Amino acid sequence: MSPVEDLAQLLRDVRSSISEARSQDELEQLRVKFLGRKSRLTEIMRSIPQLEPQQRATVGKHANQLKQTIESQLADRQGQLAAIPMGPGLDVTLPGSAVVQGRLHPITQTIHAILSALLPLGFEIVEGPEVEFEYYNFDALNIPRDHPSRESFDTFFLDQPSPDSKKGRPLLRSHTSPVQVRVMERRKPPLRIVVPGKVYRPDPLDPSHSFMFHQVEGLMVDERTSFADLKGVLERFVLALFGEGTRTRFRPHYFPFTEPSAEVDIACAACGGEGCSTCGRKGWLEIMGCGMVHPNVFKAVGYDPNKVQGFAFGMGVERIAMLKHGITDIRLFFENDLRFLGQF
Ligand code: DAH
Repeated sequence: MSPVEDLAQLLRDVRSSISEARSQDELEQLRVKFLGRKSRLTEIMRSIPQLEPQQRATVGKHANQLKQTIESQLADRQGQLAAIPMGPGLDVTLPGSAVVQGRLHPITQTIHAILSALLPLGFEIVEGPEVEFEYYNFDALNIPRDHPSRESFDTFFLDQPSPDSKKGRPLLRSHTSPVQVRVMERRKPPLRIVVPGKVYRPDPLDPSHSFMFHQVEGLMVDERTSFADLKGVLERFVLALFGEGTRTRFRPHYFPFTEPSAEVDIACAACGGEGCSTCGRKGWLEIMGCGMVHPNVFKAVGYDPNKVQGFAFGMGVERIAMLKHGITDIRLFFENDLRFLGQF
């Protein structure tokens, strides 16, 4: 190899090895290797006087350039290494290990979506206790002691004496409706509240039942809120949550705490209302209960039913999440399998 080719090869070696040096010690070794007395560069420089006269100038020039390059690269890398914090057992130049990014649970995301659709309509978020009195869960909501409708809200009672015997036994609330009563007891109309939270029912686990699930309750009360307002608010809500163009239907129903009462259905998105397996051939999917607040509920909180009126509604969050995402088993929400949760 001619001295000029040799110098070119040396330059390539210098570039890659100096930029990858990981410590000052390694740099020192490289300095000796490339510039030391026994280095190839020194050898070439020593051989210059013996070269043909016309070669001397070229080789001399290239050798000097290479020497300067090596010196400046060593200095650069030394500066870089000095700027990196190093300690015993700490080498910050090692590649990092990836951190898996967390995200909100699909139920939390659905609650956020529901609340975001209602807040622009003037609703305020309120919460209430999960351990509730019989009085708020039932009596004040016009569900009397021996009324058969109590059975449809099958309930976990606490195995403890009541701290307030006038309010009945302590229990795990079976719906979020008791928060309506708690808020009305404390405050005067006008009221527009939404109440997200957990509720409990002693149902055996199956694809559509869980002993704990989530609801969002709504209540709007003032002197003149009507069933037309109820329809307007809930129709806007459905469009915001399920998309413009979603058709809604109000179907008469019975709830003890509202009169008249209705269930709200949306046209099945899977079949567009034709009827399919998603909607059980009905073409419609039930998404919530609602109605005009019963006069007995107003009386229980000390409101005059002749002076105030309003509507209430309540929906199951898991059910809405399942409809939105085509999920067929409620248990998936509670098993914490990252392969499921990672999809949202
Ligand atoms: N509390 C009812 C339930 O758990 C849902 C409901 C229906 C709430 C009608 C309401 C309402 O506020 O007006 O099934």
